[in-house]
Amino acid sequence: MASPMVSCFSTLLLLIISVAAVEFKVGGDEGWREPTVANETDMYKQWAETLKLHVQDSLRFMYKNDSVMVVEKSGYYHCNSSKAASVFKDGNTVIDLE
Ligand SMILES: *[C@@H]1O[C@H](CO)[C@@H](O)[C@H](O)[C@H]1NC(C)=O
Ligand SMILES: *[C@@H]1O[C@H](CO)[C@@H](O)[C@H](O)[C@H]1NC(C)=O
Ligand SMILES: *[C@@H]1O[C@H](CO)[C@@H](O)[C@H](O)[C@H]1NC(C)=O
Repeated sequence: MASPMVSCFSTLLLLIISVAAVEFKVGGDEGWREPTVANETDMYKQWAETLKLHVQDSLRFMYKNDSVMVVEKSGYYHCNSSKAASVFKDGNTVIDLE
C-alpha cells in the first residue's frame, strides 16, 4: 500500500500534468482547411514547426465542409482512411494526445 506521502506526491504530479496540458488550434487563425493556392502547401508544416506538443495536450480542428479522421500509422502513411478509428464532421473537433 502506498504511504500517504507517496499518494500525495502522485496527486500533486497529476495536478501539475493537468495544469500544463495545452490546447492548440490547428492552423492557428486559418483553422483546418485545404490549402487553396500553391504556396500554401507548407502551411501546416510551418504552423507545426513552431510548436512543442506534449502528451495530455490536445488539438482543436475548426473546419467547414470537411472532416477529421483518426487513423493508424499505416493509414496515415498510405493516405487510406478506410479503417479510420474515428470520423468527425461537426466542424469543431478536439483530439486529446494520449
Ligand atoms: C502566398 O502568397 C500570397 C500572395 O503573394 C501571400 O499573401 C501569402 O502570405 C502567401 N502564403 C504563404 C503561406 O506563404
Ligand atoms: C460549404 O458548402 C456550402 C454548400 O455547398 C457552400 O455554400 C459553402 O460556401 C461551403 N463553405 C466553405 C467554407 O467551403
Ligand atoms: C485501403 O485499406 C483497405 C483496408 O486495409 C484496403 O482494402 C484498400 O485496398 C486500401 N486502399 C488503397 C487505395 O490502398
